[in-house]
Amino acid sequence: MAILVTGGAGFIGSHTCVELLNAGYDVVVMDNYSNSSAESLRRVQELTGKAVRLYEKDIRDADAYAEIFSQNTIDSIIHFAGLKAVGESIQMPVEYYDNNIGGTVELLKAMQKYGCKRIVFSSSATVYGVNNPVPFREDMPTGGTTNPYGTTKYFIERILMDTQAAHPDWNVILLRYFNPIGAHKSGRIGEDPQGIPNNLMPYISQVAVGKLPILHIYGNDYDTPDGTGVRDYIHVVDLAIGHVRAVEKVMQGTGVQIYNLGTGHGISVLELVHAFEKASGVRVPYQIDSRRSGDIPVCYADASKAARELGWKAERGVAEMCEDTWRWQSQNPKGYA
Ligand code: NAD
Ligand code: UFG
Repeated sequence: MAILVTGGAGFIGSHTCVELLNAGYDVVVMDNYSNSSAESLRRVQELTGKAVRLYEKDIRDADAYAEIFSQNTIDSIIHFAGLKAVGESIQMPVEYYDNNIGGTVELLKAMQKYGCKRIVFSSSATVYGVNNPVPFREDMPTGGTTNPYGTTKYFIERILMDTQAAHPDWNVILLRYFNPIGAHKSGRIGEDPQGIPNNLMPYISQVAVGKLPILHIYGNDYDTPDGTGVRDYIHVVDLAIGHVRAVEKVMQGTGVQIYNLGTGHGISVLELVHAFEKASGVRVPYQIDSRRSGDIPVCYADASKAARELGWKAERGVAEMCEDTWRWQSQNPKGYA
């Protein structure tokens, strides 16, 4: 019995592979390396002393699945593969809909064809849109997304719900991540964005390591304690462990379940910058710029459903997130290159 991990070479996927292997699962990865490389999985195998079965394939390639499903007994799927850059998705909506939605549809066709009935999907807090009050709860209305990337997550959630309704013997888990940061304690795997980072933490760490000159803070006039945006940052290892709990859950019963994976606490951009400076001992110069379009002021989870039903809770605090990010960034200034 194996778990098929699409996008397993990426940031969250590689950390999840470590936790799955350590928990004793067989892991099969399908990744086209469009935003990653085989090096992350080489290190995952080095860290765990266990082998990953690797397929360099695109999830949109209908022919790829025959090989994977004939060579492995796939019990469940964790579906990470997708493009995730918000700004890029506004420039290239067709490519985002093709990759994320088209890819998911091919994956679902293969599940139907080969009789695989369990899937855990990487969704995002972005599906809560701009109209809900914090903390975000799983039963709040979704939609009202502000960019094509977010809309792909919203649509894929709907596609998975419709598919489960048509196949009542399927079990679908939608995980809505808040803001994953941090890295594995070893410093061997971490986040390796291509080009200029879109997200705050990799930007901070690349300024700290000297790759970028200065951090741009997008707005200090929000209605928050210090005026900067507030987010629910979650350690990627906590997130990865959340996937192991979700896999255990997806093996039981049928239906659709939705869980927020966050800490339940928000911190501001400036608080994160200061926590990072403290953890690294390096000053992070910044300047205040105007707001970034599409950003909401405050986003954090009600994380109680995952605690109740998955027995999962984020355990690593912001200081540890910063220390682990810094270890990864300072030991691998060029990422996996
Ligand atoms: P990532 O880019 O590091 O990982 C995604 C992986 O999918 C990469 O290895 C990439 O090469 C692969 N991939 C992309 N398109 C593919 C395709 N067509 N076929 C095969 N492989 C393909 O991103 P991540 O941060 O690890 O995110 C993983 C998932 O979690 C994504 O679906 C993302 O949208 C979602 N998510 C991420 C965040 C975040 O802040 N990092 C937040 C919410 C949700
Ligand atoms: N920010 C800056 N400077 C930067 C980058 C970000 O000030 O260089 C600010 C943003 O304005 C925001 C906060 O830092 O207030 C966090 O921004 P990120 O880009 O790191 O994260 P977002 O909350 O905007 O979005 C991320 C992912 C989305 C995902 C969402 C919820 O990019 O794909 O978390 O999971 F949907």
